[in-house]
Amino acid sequence: MSQFVPLCSVAEAPKEGEVCEIAAAGRVFCVTRVDGKVVVLDNVCPHRGGPLGQGLIENGHVVCPWHAWAFNAKTGCASHHPNACVRRYGVREVEGVVEVDLEQAKFLGN
Ligand code: FES
Repeated sequence: MSQFVPLCSVAEAPKEGEVCEIAAAGRVFCVTRVDGKVVVLDNVCPHRGGPLGQGLIENGHVVCPWHAWAFNAKTGCASHHPNACVRRYGVREVEGVVEVDLEQAKFLGN
């Protein structure tokens, strides 16, 4: 089952090496781009709740702005702690709009 909702236009989505917060459907997501594809993760860091979308990208990892835990953007898991993960959401592009699937949020693991 899927529940896609609009997130942003393709033009507004972050470019490779960028990360940001985007609000949709009453939630805030951490949004970045990996290998050309938009990636949507939970925005709340599992360490102490830092806003991951306000962090930065280093070597394919989203770095939390509060204490610098680094999460692999592909898996959502912290590089130093494989059990500390954020969910990654299903994403699709429809007619120039990036949509996020609220039902297909997964802990992908390392
Ligand atoms: S809250 Fe994210 S590293 Fe501490």
